[in-house]
Order: sequence, then C-alpha cells, then structure tokens
Amino acid sequence: MIRLHVNVDHVATLRQARRAAEPDPIEWALRAERAGADGITCHLRKDRRHIQDADVAALRRRITTLLNLELSLDPEMVDLGTRSGADEFCLVPEHRQEVTTEGGLDVAREGPRLAAVLPMLRSNGARVSLFVDPDSRQIEAAARLKADFIELHTGCYANAWPDPAARARELERLHGAASRAHELGLRVNAGHGLNLLNVGAVAALPHVEELNIGHSIVAHAVFVGIDTALSEMRAAMGCPAIRGPR
Ligand code: PXP
Repeated sequence: MIRLHVNVDHVATLRQARRAAEPDPIEWALRAERAGADGITCHLRKDRRHIQDADVAALRRRITTLLNLELSLDPEMVDLGTRSGADEFCLVPEHRQEVTTEGGLDVAREGPRLAAVLPMLRSNGARVSLFVDPDSRQIEAAARLKADFIELHTGCYANAWPDPAARARELERLHGAASRAHELGLRVNAGHGLNLLNVGAVAALPHVEELNIGHSIVAHAVFVGIDTALSEMRAAMGCPAIRGPR
C-alpha cells in the first residue's frame, strides 16, 4: 500500500512570517499522524527560512512514524543530518533565490560529492533517497551510486495539469522513470506539487511506495481542517480510511 508522508515545512513558513511560536509544525505533525500520515517530512534549508534546527530535534523526539529529512549537499547540512536521528534522508538541490525546490539533483554531475555523503548519512542505519527529475540519465547515475531510493520530482507533471496532452506526456515520463528505477534495483518515492486532483495518477504508477506532500494539504486544511484534508488526500491516493484513533 502506498504511504503518505506529510511535509510540515509550510506550517513553519507561516510561523516564521511572524517569528512567532504559532502555528507549531510539531503539533501539526502529531495531528497529521493521528489523521493518517505514515511519515513526516521536513526540509532544513541552509537559510532556515522555515524549519529550524530545534524543530528537527523536536520532531525526532515526538513523532512515532518515520522522519524523512530533506537536505542539500552543503557540508553543514550533511553534518546536522548525521546527528539528527532521521530515518530517511532525501538529498535535494537548493538555491538561495528559489521559492521552493525547483528541480531534481544533477546526480550525474554531483556523483563524487554524493559518493562521499551517502555513507555518512547511512552510518546510523538511515536510508537515502535522491530527488531527481524523471530522466533516465539521472536514474542510472543514482543506481551507480547505489542509493536506496529515488524521489521522482512531480513538479513538471503538476504544472502541466491544465493541458491534457502535456499532462499525459509528463505522466508517461514518470511511468518510464519509475519502471527504469525499479529495473535498476532502486526503490521509488515521488512528490512536489501533488494535490487532490493530480495525485491519483501518480499514486497508481508502478513501484511508487511513498508520496511526500505538503503545500496542498496545508492549503486545503485552512478551509476544512487537518483531519478532513488528510482523509481526502488518503482517499485520492487510494489508501483505506483510518478508523478510530491511531
Ligand atoms: N518532495 C521534495 C523533495 C520537496 O522538496 C518538496 C517541497 O518541499 C515536496 C516533496 C513537497 O512538495 P509540495 O509542498 O509541493 O507538496
């Protein structure tokens, strides 16, 4: 059964807008777990624009599902990662001016740096995923590095949504990439820009184990609350309903 990992960065973004204590991304993560999240994802950025170091430590102490920490290859971030106790890491490119992660890693070009960082992050038994565009060159490079997972960047598919032909083309690219990754022995996650309308087709792709979703869940929860937002997302992914308290 496909798993839903809820990205809590967007709650921290709202908190940081006022440099206040609320809304608390830890409380959000705990509620998301009760409402059906199978794991919690956060991105500790070099500029600390949303998640702070103390948030990562508090998430590690308090959540009971898996903690997936997104990091860039910056040495400071890798060092924090090795001390974070996260269950999974997703390595992402990071550019100071971007509003959000804009594309996948260039695994082929970053090969030597990745080869050094993967064993460091794995030293406590964590699994490492590389965030990549649905491009066979990148996937083959990830397989050469023996990454545990790739996370397919679904942003182009999400952006193509209003145009049915472009959407079908992007979905086909994701399908081909998931199949190629599986053939090469990589496990497959996906995420970015997924929402109630576009998530079903991605959840139905072969070999995809986990979706990382943040913005659309927070945006929907503003209107309907977190319990409804999570149960609607799980239903759109084809997951069974949660019955009773978790
Ligand atoms: N996966 C990765 C690697 C990301 O960087 C992000 C954005 O933080 C997401 C998934 C979630 O994207 P969204 O907030 O658009 O759901």
